Amino acid sequence: MSDLAGVRARNATFWARAAPGWIRHADRQDEYGRPLGAVALDRLRPRPGERILDVGCGCGGTSAELAGAVGPAGTVVGLDLDASMVEAAAARFPGDRHPGLRFTAADIETAEAVQGAPFDAAYSRMALMLAADPVAACSAIRRALRPGGRLAATVFRDGAATPWMHAVLLGAAPHLGPLPPMPVGDEPGPFAFADPGRVTRVLTGAGFDAVGVEPYDVVLRAPGDPGAVAEWLIEIGPAGAAYREAAPERRAAARAGVIKLLARFREPPEPTGPPEPTGPAAGYRLPAGIWLVTAVAPAGTA
Ligand SMILES: C[S@@+](CC[C@H](N)C(=O)[O-])C[C@H]1O[C@@H](n2cnc3c(N)ncnc32)[C@H](O)[C@@H]1O
Repeated sequence: MSDLAGVRARNATFWARAAPGWIRHADRQDEYGRPLGAVALDRLRPRPGERILDVGCGCGGTSAELAGAVGPAGTVVGLDLDASMVEAAAARFPGDRHPGLRFTAADIETAEAVQGAPFDAAYSRMALMLAADPVAACSAIRRALRPGGRLAATVFRDGAATPWMHAVLLGAAPHLGPLPPMPVGDEPGPFAFADPGRVTRVLTGAGFDAVGVEPYDVVLRAPGDPGAVAEWLIEIGPAGAAYREAAPERRAAARAGVIKLLARFREPPEPTGPPEPTGPAAGYRLPAGIWLVTAVAPAGTA
């Protein structure tokens, strides 16, 4: 892997450039992306009054869901590398309407201490594999937990289990300007945790006990018009910044390219007559292969 400082800097730039797309599509991400983290939420079993850290919280949807589960007596801290996403999260879920919920901008890898620690539990949806040094990131999470504190997170398995992601990139890229460099080997990226052995080594190396890595196949259901779905998926992916900076006709061509390659994920088209009460909804069915990663902070490790 190239030097750590360089990879960290590249990450920070990537997420700063990706942030406007994530902010713009935050509601879609909350609604359509929910299956990506639901198994970890179920497994975490947040209880009223608990203190929970949400790592890589993006625009805060999962932090708000956690805050609902721990109630007004609990505390949830949503932490994200990108300050503009943290700002958007705080605006979407203000403290007066979400007591006990707050957001903080920090790089989990280099955070000396996480504001609000110690936590009873940590949650993360699709972020751990994005760390330049995942052992450092997971060590910081473990240090932020109380002894016996639990972690439940999701990450992608291998890319073949989430085929629409490649389709989005291949459909959009030919129409857009240069894209950020694609990850090589173990470099941070959506599929950097594809190998469950690596995931176990990272968590164990970070000092966690009782590490579990279980496969789940989930489906994202995205209704609505193909153009909107294509735009959501382009803008939250590696082509997002190039898409935003492209001329309108190039953006339209990118959307058309993605719509074409996503056709195989389309559910039956909109009915022309009245909807069948039992018929499947029109839209997209996007399969995703994920690992549910669970672990416990041992007693006596600070
Ligand atoms: C794929 S997005 C997922 C966002 C959100 N959890 C969701 O599922 O909608 C990954 C998030 O992790 C954040 N992230 C990446 N590296 C990070 C780091 N080292 N420390 C904190 N956050 C990080 C990014 O800024 C981004 O918001």
